[in-house]
Amino acid sequence: MKLSSNLTSVKAPVGNTDQPHDAFDEEQSALWHSLIESRIGMILPEIQHSLFERRVQERMKLCGLDVMSYYQLVQIHSLEWQQLVEDLVVHETAFFRHTPSFELLEHRLSLFTTPVHIWSVGCSTGEETWSLAMLAHKHALHGFSIMASDISESVLNVARNGLYSWRKADKIPEAYRENCIELPAGHSKRALHASSMTTQDWQVSDVLRQKVFFHRFNLMDSADVPFRRLQIIFCQNVLIYFRQFDRRDILDALVQRLDIGGLLVLGPGEMADWDHPAMKRVKHAGTLAYERVKT
Ligand SMILES: C[S@@+](CC[C@H](N)C(=O)[O-])C[C@H]1O[C@@H](n2cnc3c(N)ncnc32)[C@H](O)[C@@H]1O
Repeated sequence: MKLSSNLTSVKAPVGNTDQPHDAFDEEQSALWHSLIESRIGMILPEIQHSLFERRVQERMKLCGLDVMSYYQLVQIHSLEWQQLVEDLVVHETAFFRHTPSFELLEHRLSLFTTPVHIWSVGCSTGEETWSLAMLAHKHALHGFSIMASDISESVLNVARNGLYSWRKADKIPEAYRENCIELPAGHSKRALHASSMTTQDWQVSDVLRQKVFFHRFNLMDSADVPFRRLQIIFCQNVLIYFRQFDRRDILDALVQRLDIGGLLVLGPGEMADWDHPAMKRVKHAGTLAYERVKT
């Protein structure tokens, strides 16, 4: 099997769904789906099957390989695999997504008597992470740091830049805008409150950027989580893509990373009827959250 050395830098356009393609046979589909599930935990939804097959076919043509040789290649060539993963995962996100979870944190953050270390799990393009940073900047009285992780390098790059359109700022409560948003040169802070904003982007302010660290991390490697002794783990809209037993394994690993008194906030419906001997359900309307009460 021969792959030209510069091939991995060729980003082929994602396939046009109207174009006919050679569908995988049953055996090929089963092999690819189980590879995806074992590597990234994702059960490929039916609706994505044909898009994924087109993507594989584009890449195998570029590599000059047939489907089974390409299947073998992605298992040993991490950059080629990463390119496929980038197109598979769902990156939908928003600032202050699911308000009740942030209301719970707003209340809890001020109760910590030491610096608060937070993990934003499956951070996508960073809106969740920067929302947490805005909240912690105002309410964590003894300082904070945030570790944010995702499997996709392309979303992590967007997150690190912290550069967003004004349309996205609509979701950020007024109380957090003053100190957390930087305007492009030549614009007054009053523009932040004006109903008609400029069309230029804005950036997360330096004061927050100094406290936030982004890492690529695959949750299927949850036994090797690089973070420890955390006060808050925020994991919303991530576990829904995993099978029940993988969700349990990941949650067990997250619990091990929390300090006693630490809080695990999940998306509602992320893991119904989960319980863990070290965790106690926190009652706050509209949330799915747990506090670590035992070692
Ligand atoms: C729908 S987004 C949720 C973003 C954010 N947490 C929110 O609620 O707005 C799910 C994110 O999980 C990431 N993800 C999916 N599988 C993953 C895995 N195995 N390891 C780490 N991150 C993963 C995706 O790349 C994606 O950015």
